[in-house]
Amino acid sequence: MKKTIVITGGAGFIGSHVVRQFVKNYPDYHIVNIDKLTYAGNLENLKDVENQKNYSLEKIDIVNAAQIDSLFQNYKVSGVIHLAAESHVDRSIESPMEFIYTNIIGTVNLLNACRKFWKDDYNEKLFYHISTDEVFGSLGSDGYFTETTAYDPQSPYSASKAGSDHIVRAYHNTYNLPVIVSNCSNNYGPNQFPEKLIPLAINNIKNNKPIPVYGKGENIRDWLFVIDHASAIDKIFHKGVPGETYNIGGNNEWKNIDLVRLLCRIMDKKLNRNPGTSEKLITFVKDRAGHDMRYAIDSAKIQKELGWKPSVTFEDGLEKTVDWYLGNSNWLKNITSGEYELYYSKQYSNR
Ligand code: NAD
Ligand code: DAU
Repeated sequence: MKKTIVITGGAGFIGSHVVRQFVKNYPDYHIVNIDKLTYAGNLENLKDVENQKNYSLEKIDIVNAAQIDSLFQNYKVSGVIHLAAESHVDRSIESPMEFIYTNIIGTVNLLNACRKFWKDDYNEKLFYHISTDEVFGSLGSDGYFTETTAYDPQSPYSASKAGSDHIVRAYHNTYNLPVIVSNCSNNYGPNQFPEKLIPLAINNIKNNKPIPVYGKGENIRDWLFVIDHASAIDKIFHKGVPGETYNIGGNNEWKNIDLVRLLCRIMDKKLNRNPGTSEKLITFVKDRAGHDMRYAIDSAKIQKELGWKPSVTFEDGLEKTVDWYLGNSNWLKNITSGEYELYYSKQYSNR
């Protein structure tokens, strides 16, 4: 008999890669993607799986408890992989409430549905919550985030994710709900919405527009190719221990300015521009409020206990990413019209 696995936020960046991996690798699972299809949800991301027999889409807002309950009534859900979230730090600084509703209330609604419909029969059940390294706050020039690092979120986005992580763990401690949390570093790859640094820079370089680098570009992020995150999620969902937390990272730290310069060099080659042409587009702009200086993940636990490690080098991953954006100009064009133009001018015109 087929197991029904709900994946929330499956039309988004990471979610679409997770949906694809599960639909293709597990024909015995029925994958139900629940997504509100916000500005970040894009069904174009799932064109190659939308007609698969073991895939369904339900347009649901996780803030609406009644919609979630009726989904659990219609399907015999045995697992939830929860990715749906408002995910962009800059938007959370502008309008935090949406983050509180979706990231906190939405998560609680899902947890309540699991309790209500699983009725204490937790055999073969799992609620798997996808979180971020940003909950740990900012590192100085050394050290790494481990699974036991104290939470110290700095932005409304990371605080809302931290809140949801705490509630997920509270449902395990209080009600024995089988839960797992994973905290991952910065993802990059195909299908990422061009509000995030890498696709935004690729799109601007392509269109000869200024590349906005916040502050002095000294902030450091640890980058992981999205397909490696999806494979870590697969590993954790199948082999992870309920009640545990796993950190996922690329062991691949880059200063923003060095990363942007590298992208410029790759783009010069791909677009047959003279070396140094795209770098001229780099523009230092007003820093992000409360900008975390450095993130770096210690992923020893998942490597040792579950045998996962990143498989794609940054060089390969970035090249694949650039190729994807250059080869999918319609995707990019569709997504950068309308709402995106309004967002972009509001976000960058005063910097
Ligand atoms: P994204 O913004 O690309 O996609 C989010 C998806 O959630 C979209 O499809 C959107 O329509 C959906 N969604 C938003 N609000 C919803 C609601 N109320 N009800 C139902 N669906 C809703 O996000 P992403 O970058 O793919 O991130 C996915 C998850 O991974 C998030 O939980 C994020 O916190 C986490 N994460 C992201 C990164 C990263 O680098 N992008 C790193 C670590 C963890
Ligand atoms: O660490 C995981 C997190 O990574 C995820 O939880 C978030 O969902 C995801 O958005 C990402 O958060 P960041 O804030 O690190 O990603 P972003 O791409 O927005 O920014 C990366 C770095 O680049 C950060 O230091 C800010 C800087 N930046 C960003 C933008 C959009 C710029 O300098 N210029 C820009 O225009």
